[in-house]
Amino acid sequence: MDNKGYVLITGASGGFGLEFARQLEARGYSLLLHGRDRARLQLTMNAMHHPTHHRLILADLNTKTGVNDLLKGIEHSPLTGLINNAGFGIWGSFEKTGIVPQIDVIKTDLKAPIELTHALLPVLIKQRGFIINVSSLAGVSPLPYMSTYAAAKAGLTYWSEALRTELVEKVRVVTLAPGPSPTGFRDISGMPAGPGSFFRTKVSKIISASLTTLDHGGGYCVPGWRHQLLYALQKITPGNWALRIMSKQLRP
Ligand SMILES: NC(=O)c1ccc[n+]([C@@H]2O[C@H](COP(=O)([O-])OP(=O)(O)OC[C@H]3O[C@@H](n4cnc5c(N)ncnc54)[C@H](OP(=O)(O)O)[C@@H]3O)[C@@H](O)[C@H]2O)c1
Repeated sequence: MDNKGYVLITGASGGFGLEFARQLEARGYSLLLHGRDRARLQLTMNAMHHPTHHRLILADLNTKTGVNDLLKGIEHSPLTGLINNAGFGIWGSFEKTGIVPQIDVIKTDLKAPIELTHALLPVLIKQRGFIINVSSLAGVSPLPYMSTYAAAKAGLTYWSEALRTELVEKVRVVTLAPGPSPTGFRDISGMPAGPGSFFRTKVSKIISASLTTLDHGGGYCVPGWRHQLLYALQKITPGNWALRIMSKQLRP
């Protein structure tokens, strides 16, 4: 296999992370596959054609120790690419949801990508590498009953897009903003299957769209026509209407 260097994929134990692993292995990269659940991460490894080229790393990104453990685990593998993909959301009224899981969403979905990127940027610049930040269309407008998740993804989108501009000609940056997709995300968030199901888009299509954006030098990527339609609707719907519609859709 033609080895193009190492790529760290956070949250590689399923969903988008597993598909990133498949498509990046096919492009000739060695992978550092991160997650918390060893058994599920091993399933990702089992799906690889060249498992000896890749490595598993366990770390909980909710904690400072976990972020440090992950950085320590990769210090001898000069990175070409970083995929900030790990994340989760919680569905429910803000008032009735405990503060610990709300803050964990901010830590995993926003704080950890910023910390990892800051620590790994010198080597990514040296390698003229790339970063893909997996944000969400949840970051385009406020989302009642997923308020903290939407805030984390809005933050991630703004940060990623600003970074893309700062790093132009040094590191290619993709901000991936998918809508509803068939992964483990819904079950973990506790969200029912109904809302947004028309817009659901195949995971392989989402990941290949992000890699095509990368091939074009980076950018903001809304993958597939269904997600692009949802994005257009978000953009043209007046704020208060959008809040009312989303509130009706997502109210527990
Ligand atoms: N599916 C959607 O509808 C959708 C839409 C837009 C954006 N996204 C975003 O896409 C990304 C990937 O999610 P997915 O849809 O593929 O869901 P998923 O199948 O639930 O995968 C989430 C991944 O994140 C990891 N993760 C979660 N919390 C973690 C923590 N504290 N520390 C370390 N790893 C953690 C999980 O690892 P373990 O299983 O090992 O804990 C898992 O590998 C997330 O950032 C999500 O917000 C999803």
